[in-house]
Amino acid sequence: MLFSSAVFALLPLTALASPLSSRAAQYEDFVTKHSWGSSTPSTSWTYHSTPDPSTLLTLRFGLRPSSFDTLLDHLSQTSDPFHERYGKHLSKAQVDELMRPTSETLQEVKDWLNWHGVEDEEFSTTSDRWISVKIPVSLAETLLNTTYHMFEHAKTEEKILRTLEYSLPRHLHDHVNLVSPTTYFGTTESMRVTSFVVPKVSGSGLTSDVTPPSSCATVITPTCLKDLYNTVNYTPSQTRVNKIGITGYLEQFASLADLTTFTRQFLPQATNATFAVDLINGGLNTQNNPGVEANLDVQYATGLSWPTPMTFYSTGGSPPFIPDSNTPTNTNEPYLDWLDFIETVPDNELPSTFSTSYGDDEQSVPADFATEVCNGFATLGARGATLMFSSGDAGVGGGNCETNDGTNRVQFQPAFPASCPFVTAVGGTTGISPEVAVTDFPSGGGFSNLFARPSYQATAVSTFLTANGNKNAGLFNTTGRAYPDVAAQGQRFQVVVNGAVESVDGTSCSSPTFAGVIALLNDFKLAKDKTTLGFLNPLLYANPSALNDVTSGTNAGCGTNGFSARAGWDPVTGLGTPNFVKLQAVV
Ligand SMILES: *[C@@H]1O[C@H](CO)[C@@H](O)[C@H](O)[C@H]1NC(C)=O
Ligand SMILES: *[C@@H]1O[C@H](CO)[C@@H](O)[C@H](O)[C@H]1NC(C)=O
Ligand SMILES: *[C@@H]1O[C@H](CO)[C@@H](O)[C@H](O)[C@H]1NC(C)=O
Repeated sequence: MLFSSAVFALLPLTALASPLSSRAAQYEDFVTKHSWGSSTPSTSWTYHSTPDPSTLLTLRFGLRPSSFDTLLDHLSQTSDPFHERYGKHLSKAQVDELMRPTSETLQEVKDWLNWHGVEDEEFSTTSDRWISVKIPVSLAETLLNTTYHMFEHAKTEEKILRTLEYSLPRHLHDHVNLVSPTTYFGTTESMRVTSFVVPKVSGSGLTSDVTPPSSCATVITPTCLKDLYNTVNYTPSQTRVNKIGITGYLEQFASLADLTTFTRQFLPQATNATFAVDLINGGLNTQNNPGVEANLDVQYATGLSWPTPMTFYSTGGSPPFIPDSNTPTNTNEPYLDWLDFIETVPDNELPSTFSTSYGDDEQSVPADFATEVCNGFATLGARGATLMFSSGDAGVGGGNCETNDGTNRVQFQPAFPASCPFVTAVGGTTGISPEVAVTDFPSGGGFSNLFARPSYQATAVSTFLTANGNKNAGLFNTTGRAYPDVAAQGQRFQVVVNGAVESVDGTSCSSPTFAGVIALLNDFKLAKDKTTLGFLNPLLYANPSALNDVTSGTNAGCGTNGFSARAGWDPVTGLGTPNFVKLQAVV
């Protein structure tokens, strides 16, 4: 009995011997997934220490969706105003189905993790597309043939666990889009360049006139923007179905008390305005510590879209990071964490309009990470949501504009996510007659080095490039996705912070303003029993005359004058600022 059972036990081992060793060979055949070379992508982050090998790390594997190309086909049809399927957005269930990995992908990744001793019971998933495992750093290093280090941020002293490069077994490159955290070092900043407390200005109620009050030449209030962008005579009616979402990162909290003070002073009909707060991934809602950025975003999106219901998304994972025994180091990656959450929101609760006033230098974001995040934005567009992002406050590039690929060439430095072709990037203007590109801080604009030019802007951009001639030749990528798409006021916004009025500058002002107008346009469409706008850019580029073309100003940077605004689209103010009444006519 004993003997025979021993023989029986030996048999399978012998039979498996050869597949096992070929497995081992397969899993050691590493191919680099992403590498920064020998230094971090940003001078803000420097080596701090080597983690204890037993430190626990939550490693997430972003699996390749089975049908992302099909999703993009849907998106290009449903966002194309000339297509018969325009506006026929996908449901969450349809998007989930297209984004689900194949069973082969799932099996290959599971087999690999099982081989390294990680059992199925240890997997956790937020969606079919992600597998998370909490494992020691030493095992992560084996899986990815890499070495993790603690890095420290020069200003905030935040510590993060990252690596300068990572690899995957060759055959898994077809199945895994991204492993996180690995080489993304957040350099995310709020797109707010200045703010200062101003002496109390007297409140200005709404005028029914479309001529902005003369005070709008010196300070911007909701009244100025409603007049300038022609929304004065529109009252939203779809407040049971239409919503606007404002994202918050970097421990920026929006104060309800400040919103009330703001509406009392600048929007008296809206003194009961409020917003819901969704806390994501440890995000907080510290009412006694409001952030200028968060208050600006909430107050001006309210200023334009009230009484459209608003949700503020407070996503955690940014400094100051407080370690606990479960999460000893900061491994969070804010855009991914926000996407994970928002993708689970049911169709009837998903806001139709979003504004984000944060961004990174594109060259500091690994291509695989940027692509994953940008594709996540595409899935929201496919579900009928419009996403606005600030274009940045450093013109064609801040700092010395040297590339971080080791060659240290001077190149214009685009901003991400504004450079993602599936979002609407919003630049900044100033002045009221006429509006011109803001120059006190140069409004962000340029050409992506990561994302190719999408077809919806091909004609507009090639017209610009022809007119531009040789200016800045060699400093930017003539084939890249060009931005911004549009613009809105970006200076001297009157914002209430801790009860006092501050004057705020930056494309951080422009994005919530443009988003507020788009929320009204979504309301208008819903009131007509139509679907929401969804991904907006193809509609805008097909109807440039629905925007106020901004034809003067430049966006200096990198030691140059940058580009010049001109008639038609330009990489300073895009197609221009919104004219709500004209936009109503084209939707
Ligand atoms: C793992 O990476 C190191 C360099 O860090 C390299 O020398 C080694 O060959 C790699 N191992 C495999 C199996 O590719
Ligand atoms: C605020 O007041 C307006 C108009 O009186 C009303 O339509 C709206 O429902 C109120 N909103 C809240 C949140 O109470
Ligand atoms: C220019 O952009 C394209 C995408 O359109 C990209 O493939 C290419 O690598 C970029 N070139 C440089 C020098 O960054």
